[in-house]
This record gives sequence, structure tokens and C-alpha cells, in this order.
Amino acid sequence: MDQRELETLLADLPLGGIRYFPKVGSTNDLAIRWAQAGAADFSLVVADEQSAGRGRLNRQWFTPPGSGLALSVILRPENLPVDVISAPPQTDLHTAITRLTALGALAVCETLNEALSPVLPAQIKWPNDVIATRRKLAGVLVELQWSGEKLIAAILGIGVNVTSAAVPPPGEVNFPATCVEEVVDSPVDRWVLLHDILVHLLRWREQMASEKFLLAWLARLAFRGEWVTIVLENESEQDAPPSLEGQVAGLNSDGSLRLRLRSGEITPVHFGEIHLRPVDKPAN
Ligand code: BTN
Repeated sequence: MDQRELETLLADLPLGGIRYFPKVGSTNDLAIRWAQAGAADFSLVVADEQSAGRGRLNRQWFTPPGSGLALSVILRPENLPVDVISAPPQTDLHTAITRLTALGALAVCETLNEALSPVLPAQIKWPNDVIATRRKLAGVLVELQWSGEKLIAAILGIGVNVTSAAVPPPGEVNFPATCVEEVVDSPVDRWVLLHDILVHLLRWREQMASEKFLLAWLARLAFRGEWVTIVLENESEQDAPPSLEGQVAGLNSDGSLRLRLRSGEITPVHFGEIHLRPVDKPAN
């Protein structure tokens, strides 16, 4: 892949701009700088390799050369549905970040489900992971860029493990990981996946404040009805009791997770310094 080939591949899509790099630190960093320099809405940064890719909660994200997709899309707030980011900075930013994260996860899920076996559907592990066979194969990181008090862009970063080289060693992840090729057991053209992810992003972006979006997200929600633990990031894994245990009961309209506690009470779990794990050990 190179800049010209990527432009040809994506020529049918209404993108603001395209920048391809063989190797970067983090595509999100480049997208932030490009947004500050005036990039048009829906401009795209893609890299073959990242040396300092990052995930949520300050985790590292591995993208060795030739192994996956690392992309960042610059979304201008004026091109988002008004209900998503209406009047920054008063808007509930958790809700906005949750929806933007779901936008990325849903686009990856739908792409994989169309390209891959329908009997092994990809799902969204709330709030930002895409899983298949109960293992993670993609993640979404949304970062907001401000100019003083004015929100100037949301950077939607997406990483997809396509080949086994992108799968980090088990000791370096807190959730079992896999890759697209392992799930489908055949070679996969990552650039076709990239094209389709962008198609789904463009389509759902228009509708992300709608009931339809929420229902599509809900239909892909992993672990529904299962018992999960919501782990607070700053708790010691060894000593502390689980932060919150309950059954995944669905989504609230603000995108928070509905968790049914042992008492039967349903409590919302908001996007933040948390991650979700099934209570039973995931099957390998
Ligand atoms: C997560 O699972 O916590 C989110 C991972 C997001 C990784 C992508 S790869 C492209 C973009 N650039 C980064 O540095 N991170 C995101």
C-alpha cells in the first residue's frame, strides 16, 4: 500500500482527505495535529505500522507492519448530529464519547459480520472493544481535541488485528485476544476491510443520535444476560473485591450499560475508568 493506491481504493468515498504512512508513532497523534492544522471533516490517517499506538486507559496498542489496520478519522463537531455534541462544552461529554466509540465499534462489527462467517458474529464488548469467539480483535479510542473551550474535532481511532502478528502475547493483555484471520481461518485483505469500515462509519455517523443506531448497537452487544464484572481501573486486581457484578441487561439511551445487580436493581454503568469482564473464564 502507498498513498496513491489508498487514494484509488477509497476514491468512491466522500472523505475530507487521506494520509497514508508506512510507520508512525500513533495515527491518533497525527490526526490531532492535522485537525489543529485545519483538516477537513472526515479526513483519514492510516498507517501500516505504529510504534506507539495507544488504547483506552493508557494501554499500549500493537500494530506491527503488515498485521492489521490502524486508522484515525477526524470528525468535526458541526458535522455530527446535533444531539451528539450539541453545545460544547456544556454537553455531557461521556455521552458523546460513548456514542462516538460505539460508532467505531459498530462499523467494525458490521464490516466483519458481512465479510466473515455469520455463525461467528462479531460483537461489541461495551464500551469500546470488538470481540469474536469471546476474544478481542479490535478496539476503538476516541480523543477530543479542544481549542480553549471550543471542541474542534473528535478523533476516532480504530485498531483491528487482522493477522496473528497483531495479537499481543497473552501476558500483555487483560482480555483474551485474537485476529480476523484466526476467526475466519483464511487470509483476509485488510484494505477491503478498511474500505468497508469507512462505508459503515459514513452511514452511521448521520444516524448516531437515532433510536435505530441504539438498536443496532444493542443487537451487537456482547454478554447480554451474562454475569460480568465491571472492574475499576485503579483497583488492585489481586486484593480488591470486584467493583460491581451483575448481568448485562442492555443499554440506556445515553449509551450507558444497564447492569442488573444481584438485588434485581438495574444500575447504569457510565463510560470511564472501567473495563468489563465476563465472570466465567472466557473459552479459549
Ligand atoms: C483499545 O482497545 O483500548 C483501543 C485501541 C485503539 C487503537 C487504535 S489504532 C489507531 C489509533 N491510533 C492509536 O494510537 N490508537 C488507535
